[in-house]
Amino acid sequence: MTTQDPRLELPRVQTPLPGPQSAWLFARHDRNLTGANADHHIYPLVEAGKRGHLIVDADGNTFADHMSAWGASPLGPTPPDVKAAMDAAWDRHGMQISGWLPNQAALGLVETLVGIAPGRLSRVEYSVSGTLAVEAAVKFMREATRRPLIITFGGQYHGESTYMTAGASSDLSNVSSGRTQYVSGVVMVPYPNRFRSPFRRGPGPFDECEVLDYLDYLLVQQVHPGQVAGVLIEPVLGEGGIHAPTQRFWDRLQALCRRWGWLLCLDEVQTCMGRCGTMFAMQRWNGIDPDLLLLGKAFAAGGQPIAAILGTDAVMAQTELHLGSTYGFAPAACAGAQAGIARILAGGVLENALELERIFHEVLAPLRVAVAQVGDVRAVGAMAAVEFVTDKASLRPAPALQYAVHHACLRRGVLGISQRGKWHYRLQPALTMPPAVFRHSCELIADAIHDVVQHPPTERSDVQDAVALAPR
Ligand SMILES: Cc1ncc(COP(=O)(O)O)c(C=O)c1O
Repeated sequence: MTTQDPRLELPRVQTPLPGPQSAWLFARHDRNLTGANADHHIYPLVEAGKRGHLIVDADGNTFADHMSAWGASPLGPTPPDVKAAMDAAWDRHGMQISGWLPNQAALGLVETLVGIAPGRLSRVEYSVSGTLAVEAAVKFMREATRRPLIITFGGQYHGESTYMTAGASSDLSNVSSGRTQYVSGVVMVPYPNRFRSPFRRGPGPFDECEVLDYLDYLLVQQVHPGQVAGVLIEPVLGEGGIHAPTQRFWDRLQALCRRWGWLLCLDEVQTCMGRCGTMFAMQRWNGIDPDLLLLGKAFAAGGQPIAAILGTDAVMAQTELHLGSTYGFAPAACAGAQAGIARILAGGVLENALELERIFHEVLAPLRVAVAQVGDVRAVGAMAAVEFVTDKASLRPAPALQYAVHHACLRRGVLGISQRGKWHYRLQPALTMPPAVFRHSCELIADAIHDVVQHPPTERSDVQDAVALAPR
């Protein structure tokens, strides 16, 4: 495609990866990085800057950016209005600890948030990252109910604090590898998954409410429901591979919450602010009425780090907890977040996210039938995944194939989200990515998949092996 509109520039990779300049930078700096950060096999390039929706590497290669800073840059490179709002707040306030010294920037954002908050959510606690927001929510739930236990769903991700990593994050194997301790107080059930049921063989669609049967009839035999403070759930599973429960699931989950007095806490760190084509992902269903809702990532609108815990009067009005951090709701971050919300409310952003969802399905869903190793294709707004299997009969996960497809995509100029040992490849572009650029990327992904399945890599005997043995 040739075009004069710079927004529609398409990616171009002209060197092997890493290119010579990126390789030189790795060689120069790796001895000063942690082992994990000096592992460049997943992303063999050094970003030199961004141009529209492209990442430009040190060798001049360009990649369509389907990572968008892991969702924290939802409007493309920080938009001028967000930047201008942050600059003005810097000039006025500099740094301030908003949880202790009230300031107009923080209070302005509280007012805006309460204005868009769904249901009974009317109170705001300040935070700085998704991890801290989750930790705070767990404390709020325990304080409000005077109960110790939290129910979570397997495959969710809640950040890197020691407690949540050990108890409820998708990196649970950290415990068995000795990096974190076992923790008490977190009870995990499988995430509702219509493609891959923990209870049945074969590909879905399954009735994912079976998970609630398990919770209702079996788990409560071990865990007294009266000891459960609340349920912590991602309304759309992000890191775990883009799963969206049905309306029936939400109705039944909320009925359980009402019956036992469990609080419902939605971790919308990854799904908030338009990511799923609605301001909050929960608005894709009817009647979800959370007690707590967590914001992060896109909430910053590509500006300074910021996160928030929204809660009801019942949970937050009488709390004695101070759960903000030094940098929570810093004035410039607040101003940027507010400009981001204004952008979404002005129109166009949510519609574009829904258009990206439509294009993803249109281009990639046919591969479910055409390619034996494409197990499932899922998209909810501008978060999307292709799940790879060795074959349709066994549905055995194919992490090596996913990894190979990711590299084939990179060579074609598509920078998506890939992790070792996972068998879904994900896209999380800016909500404002031009549909033509997105469609082009989807076509390149389809091409990469067709190419890789000609000679699929050998899968290891189990997924843990795949993590340990993936090339480094
Ligand atoms: C659902 C969810 N919760 C919490 C977090 C942690 O957020 P942060 O990395 O800002 O600490 C993430 C990060 O990916 C997330 O996806």
